[in-house]
Amino acid sequence: MTKLWGGRFSKNTNEMVDAFNASIEFDKRLYREDIRGSISHAAMLAKCGIISEKDAEEIISGLEKILDDIENGNFTFDESLEDIHMNIEARLTERIGAAGARLHTARSRNDQVALDMHMYIKREVAEIADLLIHFEEALLSVAGKHTRTLVPGYTHLQRAQPVTYAHYLLAYFGMMKRDFYRLSGVWDGADIMPLGAGALAGTTFPIDRFEVAKKLNFAKVYGNSMDAVSDRDYIADFLYFASVLMMHLSKLSEEICLWSSSEFCFIELDDAFATGSSMMPQKKNPDIAELVRGKTGRIYGHLQAMLVTLKGLPLAYNKDLQEDKEGLFDAIDTVKFSLAVYREMLLSMTVNTEKMAQAAVKDFSNATDLADYLVRKGVPFREAHEIVGKCVAHAIGQGKFLSEIPIKEYKGMSDLFEEDLLEALKSENCVAARRTYGGPAAEENEKQIAEGAAEISQQAELLACWQEKL
Ligand code: ARG
Repeated sequence: MTKLWGGRFSKNTNEMVDAFNASIEFDKRLYREDIRGSISHAAMLAKCGIISEKDAEEIISGLEKILDDIENGNFTFDESLEDIHMNIEARLTERIGAAGARLHTARSRNDQVALDMHMYIKREVAEIADLLIHFEEALLSVAGKHTRTLVPGYTHLQRAQPVTYAHYLLAYFGMMKRDFYRLSGVWDGADIMPLGAGALAGTTFPIDRFEVAKKLNFAKVYGNSMDAVSDRDYIADFLYFASVLMMHLSKLSEEICLWSSSEFCFIELDDAFATGSSMMPQKKNPDIAELVRGKTGRIYGHLQAMLVTLKGLPLAYNKDLQEDKEGLFDAIDTVKFSLAVYREMLLSMTVNTEKMAQAAVKDFSNATDLADYLVRKGVPFREAHEIVGKCVAHAIGQGKFLSEIPIKEYKGMSDLFEEDLLEALKSENCVAARRTYGGPAAEENEKQIAEGAAEISQQAELLACWQEKL
């Protein structure tokens, strides 16, 4: 295939160079944005009197046909045409002739690819926001059923204080909520229109960049043409968002792996969301959780790769920037898949409330509450801590839990202990007493769920605004 830039060359490109240079294998996923961007560009060129109305009409209908062809699988991508931009433009000119060859007036692939990427990220941000909202809803709906399901809370992976299963899920809701606002920041960074920056220094033609921005629903236009073609901050922002989101899901994965083990037995994965072993017939493995945890590392790698690619690049466009795509595309696919599958896995798993409660009750995680009991009777906390420490050591020595020690023996450690300490030691009372804002008591969890639902409707409103602007 002859090159669109072949004029100053007297030899064909070496095959290896074609193969190495080409991005069509992965950037073909930008075809919708490329075509929509070109349609807006052509319409603007005609409106500004740079090409004729007739040429613009031919270009636009030619591009619409190409869109159909691609969607119906009737378009063959050609590696020697390097990327999506030249594949589409070459096909257009092949079909409509001279008008097609006028499309690239006042434009470079540098601002064209930047436009495509901005539009593409906006579309994906909206899709991911939708998945994120659905996942948040799932967290709230399961939490709603478990505001009184006792479970040990851990620090250092040692049982610490009892909480509820709802409290766990609401903690993950808090993470997802912050992820949503990080995603919203990605939208803002992508919502700036680069076209018209040309290769780097704008154009001599009297184009109207604001017209293109309006047509394509961009909030802003880049104020500097060199910045416009070289900015990839919004891609790094996306990869940071994706890294943090995956880190959150990876933490939850770790919980799920632990909770589904025979040692914990807190949950059982639905058969449809677990896998077996080819050798050990009894196995039921949490592969999804493990894979999400495993893929997190790959996403961190993409963020690192992007930052390293950008570091030290001189202005303006450099071919290094083509490396912005594969990691981003992989991160987008991974995040979407992970959110979707996680939602279903969470909704379908069985919660062993008995096992959870047993772990919370047959335990020393009520020790803080015994210290608080003494504090309420006037003992300074540090002293109370010391006394209860001794009670714990005493109980361990006898192979008992705190609630099994006779009151007589407690009296030997402090005469402030009375019969009512047994109430203070009950795990459900330990949780119910933690009614401070953000605490695990059932009423507090219910408030958090209500606030979460209000939060989700705000996010949904923002998402609806984005969807209107796609
Ligand atoms: N495929 C290229 C990329 O993704 C498009 C821009 C090419 N520009 C250039 N001057 N070679 O970055």
